[in-house]
Amino acid sequence: MAGWGLLGLLGARLWARGPGRPLRAAAASADRGQLGFVVRYVNSTTWWSEHLSEENVEFLKKRTAEEYKAQTASKLCPLKDEPWPLNEWKPGSIRVGVVAVKLGMMPIWTKSGKKHAVTLLKVQDCHVLKYISKEDSGGKSPKLIVGGKNASPFSKSESEMEIFREAGVPRKQKTTTFNVTDDAIIKPGTPLYAAHFRPGQFVDVTAKTIGKGFQGVMKRWGFKGQPASHGQTKTHRRPGAISTNKASKVYRGKKMPGKMGNVYRTSFGLKVWRINTKHDIIYVNGSVPGHKNCLVKVKDTKLPNYKDCNKNPPFPTYFADGDEKLPEDLYDEEIFQFTDPSVTYA
Ligand SMILES: *[C@@H]1O[C@H](CO)[C@@H](O)[C@H](O)[C@H]1NC(C)=O
Ligand SMILES: *[C@@H]1O[C@H](CO)[C@@H](O)[C@H](O)[C@H]1NC(C)=O
Ligand SMILES: *[C@@H]1O[C@H](CO)[C@@H](O)[C@H](O)[C@H]1NC(C)=O
Repeated sequence: MAGWGLLGLLGARLWARGPGRPLRAAAASADRGQLGFVVRYVNSTTWWSEHLSEENVEFLKKRTAEEYKAQTASKLCPLKDEPWPLNEWKPGSIRVGVVAVKLGMMPIWTKSGKKHAVTLLKVQDCHVLKYISKEDSGGKSPKLIVGGKNASPFSKSESEMEIFREAGVPRKQKTTTFNVTDDAIIKPGTPLYAAHFRPGQFVDVTAKTIGKGFQGVMKRWGFKGQPASHGQTKTHRRPGAISTNKASKVYRGKKMPGKMGNVYRTSFGLKVWRINTKHDIIYVNGSVPGHKNCLVKVKDTKLPNYKDCNKNPPFPTYFADGDEKLPEDLYDEEIFQFTDPSVTYA
């Protein structure tokens, strides 16, 4: 039992060091001849459920759900409820974009019989959160902060919740910033819908790519690898030489193994084929970065080639309480309608 006595001695010594000093450092600096290590977590924040009973947690969750519903319902008529002045669209205006959830992919067919793969993006609980004027944003252009997909307000610090409280909307899972022009600013709290975009226009989609972890050169950069035979030993998937004897250094940007994926990437110039206004789904051509259920940022494309297709969009955004009444589905004119006859006789 001598060991326990020693441990107690060490513990007493560490406690005597006083609060505020990291214990690990104290243990390291204590006499190395003595055994023992004290691991104590110092938690700087309080877990929101730490002092709550199960019923209280239940109650809070129910209460928040009700509050979220009330908050969302109160924002449904932005045009009647002290709107900010609206402007006409002109060439050069830059609108805000939306935050959407990537649902997955499916095929569509055009009238000529060609099949396209489309990605479904759902605009879920998307609200404008904050307007930052040109002066406040550093004098370049005004900004609008937009958030998408409601999330739990618990385990978020008060300072992080402030932006949502000011806008009077539920906490969002993702917030993002859009550079806009002065005529396209929108009042914070305004909901954004899929009908913000229209079929036939082109968009840019930004998202974090799927993380692949630490990968070798064949997967990460598409290197060929080395032969299977001819005396190769254990170098079949390796890069080979990375520089020359003359240069005697490794050039900057040399392609080597490393972390792959999990970075923001943008797909530019994707065509919008169809909009579902009931479920707020945007069908964009081809693939977009990210895994299923990830949150993506969708905006009007910045590619100059598609300027003609992006003329006269709903400006500054589509308002559900406006004059415009939309059908449930908006299609691009090239899309084949399955209610039409597929064969006609001349
Ligand atoms: C501090 O956090 C750790 C890890 O989450 C946990 O195991 C520990 O119980 C916490 N300590 C206190 C005093 O709450
Ligand atoms: C907005 O504009 C600023 C300055 O021109 C630029 O640095 C920033 O990357 C832009 N932000 C976005 C989200 O495009
Ligand atoms: C749709 O995407 C595919 C593949 O990404 C591409 O080949 C095709 O040109 C695109 N179509 C349009 C109309 O953009």
